[in-house]
Amino acid sequence: MKKYSSYFEPSLKDARKRLHKDTAIINFHMEPRYFDLGKNKKYLIKTYGCQANIADSERIAGLLEAMGYSEVFEDDKSDLILFNTCAIRENAEDRVFGEVGRIKSLKKTNPNLLIGICGCMPQEEKTIKTIKEKHPEVDLVFGTHNIFRLPEYLYEIKEKSEKVFEVFSYEGDIVEDMPVKRDHNKKAWVNITFGCDEFCTYCIVPYTRGKERSRSPEHIINEVKELASNGYKEVTLLGQNVNSYGKDLNIGYTFANLLSDLQKTDIERVRFTTSHPKDLDLATIEVMGRRGNIMPHLHLPVQSGSNTVLKKMNRKYTKEDYINLITALKNAVPDIAITTDIIVGFPTETEEDYLKTLELVKEVGFEGAYTFIYSKREGTPAAKYEDDTPADVKKTRLLNLNKLINEGFLKGNKRFEGKIVKVLVDGESAKNDEMLTGYSEHNKLVNFKGDSSLIGSIVNVKIDKAYTWHLRGTIVK
Ligand code: 5AD
Ligand code: SF4
Repeated sequence: MKKYSSYFEPSLKDARKRLHKDTAIINFHMEPRYFDLGKNKKYLIKTYGCQANIADSERIAGLLEAMGYSEVFEDDKSDLILFNTCAIRENAEDRVFGEVGRIKSLKKTNPNLLIGICGCMPQEEKTIKTIKEKHPEVDLVFGTHNIFRLPEYLYEIKEKSEKVFEVFSYEGDIVEDMPVKRDHNKKAWVNITFGCDEFCTYCIVPYTRGKERSRSPEHIINEVKELASNGYKEVTLLGQNVNSYGKDLNIGYTFANLLSDLQKTDIERVRFTTSHPKDLDLATIEVMGRRGNIMPHLHLPVQSGSNTVLKKMNRKYTKEDYINLITALKNAVPDIAITTDIIVGFPTETEEDYLKTLELVKEVGFEGAYTFIYSKREGTPAAKYEDDTPADVKKTRLLNLNKLINEGFLKGNKRFEGKIVKVLVDGESAKNDEMLTGYSEHNKLVNFKGDSSLIGSIVNVKIDKAYTWHLRGTIVK
């Protein structure tokens, strides 16, 4: 295949625009001409990045299975390999091109193998250029806004024997009723918003995932009710900033309202990610305080403990605002576990700024964190900021921060020693098949001896010992 059928190419400039057009809701229907396209064919999806991508991959798998494809996990058994990519940091991007280069030789043994790249990377102009110049083995490219068109693309590739590259940069719509093949049969991702309007100055997401759009309360609540009636025990509500849920709907319905409505459903556990300190409000904290099925864990990215850096990051809160929120949360949910995201080495971050981050970490007592060295993203405002901190200084900052975070992780785990926690059993431990593994209400990884018949149920486990990364316990009645 040489020729490209390329209708739309990405433009970061267009992606930056917020045209405030009304979000259209597209109700997905699969056209019958696609039904047998994947008959006797195998697919493999390689997913990178955040939960939004994991949830997207479940829809992609749903579409492919509705077309007759079946899933495999080996490269050399696949007829279609799709890379669902992440653009948040440079190393995520490098890994994808390394992998694509590695699998291209499979086309020699299977000339019908199709290789596709989708997700956030294609939303960047430079990715399309790199693919066209250096990766002629790639047959299919689509972005985050046009997943629902995948059956059409595969049909065209077959009918015309042409590559299909299509990426939309304008504001996305919402597609309901897409088929979905979930990875887990007790835990489900439920999208509540798509896109992001925050424009933190380091972040590419508002460009790759479009403007913020909220799903309707009815669609979300019905999805959760249906999951509960199909035996699901846990949902995680997904959005780049879940706390701004509903603002674009203009119906006076907020995230706190949504949580409160979900508290009344039969689903046993509700989690949500990601929260934004700027929009997390007291109404939401109050609903969390009523507890019920809302889990006592909150992931609340702080990014930095320096007000100067927070301002340059366009986070729109101060360290003091953040501490006030933590106080309110701990008052409402006294045993809450709080985790966070932190970036070190943001352009212009001084040693003094960095020390303020360490101070904040100590003050809050985080029980875990994802920590990152700043990665320059082309097209974002921070890419133009002067960055004069040497790479080895950034590495040392990350190392020392991680030491502190790990201490907090262990301390947070230790508070459960001798206590009984409720664990939703995920499966057998990868290292020892006599051990089961799952997550507690506080989102702690718990390992314990047990029979595989318990997989999928919620059991009581008495914690015998806490380690940095997990808890070990014994099952009790
Ligand atoms: N460099 C480093 N980390 C980043 N994140 C987002 N953009 C960047 C970047 N350019 C981190 C933030 C965010 C998490 C998902 O990824 O901490 O909360
Ligand atoms: Fe990126 Fe900020 Fe949006 Fe999170 S809130 S996705 S960090 S722009």
